[in-house]
Amino acid sequence: MRNEKCEFTEAEEDTFEPKENPILSHEELNSDENAGPSQPESLEKGRIKIRVRNLSLFYGPTQALKQVYMKILRQSVTALIGPSGCGKSTFLRTLNRMNDTIPGVRIEGRVRIDNIDIYGPQINVVALRRVVGMVFQKSNPFPKSIFDNVAYGPRLHRIKSRITLKEIVESSLKKAALWDEVKDRLHQSAMELSGGQQQRLCIARALAVNPEILLMDEPASALDPISTGKIEELIHSLKENYTIIIVTHNMQQAARISDYTAYFYLGSLVEYGTTKKIFTNPERKETEDYVTGRFG
Ligand SMILES: Nc1ncnc2c1ncn2[C@@H]1O[C@H](COP(=O)(O)OP(=O)(O)O)[C@@H](O)[C@H]1O
Ligand SMILES: [Mg+2]
Repeated sequence: MRNEKCEFTEAEEDTFEPKENPILSHEELNSDENAGPSQPESLEKGRIKIRVRNLSLFYGPTQALKQVYMKILRQSVTALIGPSGCGKSTFLRTLNRMNDTIPGVRIEGRVRIDNIDIYGPQINVVALRRVVGMVFQKSNPFPKSIFDNVAYGPRLHRIKSRITLKEIVESSLKKAALWDEVKDRLHQSAMELSGGQQQRLCIARALAVNPEILLMDEPASALDPISTGKIEELIHSLKENYTIIIVTHNMQQAARISDYTAYFYLGSLVEYGTTKKIFTNPERKETEDYVTGRFG
C-alpha cells in the first residue's frame, strides 16, 4: 500500500488499464512461470508487481534478450547487474515499452504489471510510461525552471487533482530529497543545479506523475561519491512506496541498496536471488566470478 498516495483522479484517456479482458486467467498466470533460473523463494511471500515470461528481444538480427523469466516484488529494490552489453538497459526498457521507439525491434514473450499484459492491444503506452517512470544515467533536465521541470508531467498528462500543481511540485521535490536545497529558487533554471541535484530533480520529475514503478539506468554512475550517497539514500526511502529496478555497474552499490539482484550475461538471466545470496553464496560459478570481480 502506498501510504502517501497523491489524490490524482486520472482523466479517462490516461488510464493504463485496458477496458476489455484485462485480467488473465489463473492458468495463464501460472503456466510456465518457473522456467529459467530459479526465482528467489522469498518473492512468493510478498506481492509480485511485474511478471516477465519467456521474454526475448531482437534488434534486427541480433538477439539482445533470451527467454527471460523474472518476477519482481513490489516495494523492493531489484538490481540488474552484468557486463556491458548483456542486455540490462534493453531489459529495463521492455518494462515501459521504451524499445517500441527503436526501429527494427521485435519482442516475444510477455510482460505483465499487476496482471495486465503491457504489450496487449489496448494498452495506452503514454499512460503506461506514467505508471512506469524512468531515470537515466545522464540527468536530463529540461532547459526550464526547477518548478516547470517537475510540473511538466502533471501538465502533460493533465492530471486532475485535488491538490494544486504547486503542492505536487513541493511534494515531489520533498520525496526526491531536494526541496530544502531549492525551495527558495524554484523559478531559477534547472541547468544551474549541480549534477547530483539535477539527477534528484529528474527523480522528482518522474515522481510527479505518481508512478508505481521506477526504472533507473545507472542513475549515480556519473556522480561524485557524496551525490551518489544521496541518491542511494533516496532509493532506500522510495522503496517504501515504489517498486524500483536499478541497473548498476557498481557491485558495492547493488549490495548496499537492493533487496534482489539479477545477474545477466549475453542476454540471458543467469541467476536471480536475494542480494545477500547473490553476493555471499551464489549458485553459479559465473555469478560468483562476476560479483567478486574475477570476471573479464
Ligand atoms: N538501439 C539498439 N540497436 C541495436 N542494438 C542495440 C541497441 N541497443 C542495444 N543494442 C545491443 O543490444 C545488446 C544489449 O545492449 P544493452 O541493453 O545496452 O546492454 P547493457 O545495458 O547491459 O550494457 C548489445 O549487444 C547492444 O549492442
Ligand atoms: Mg546499459
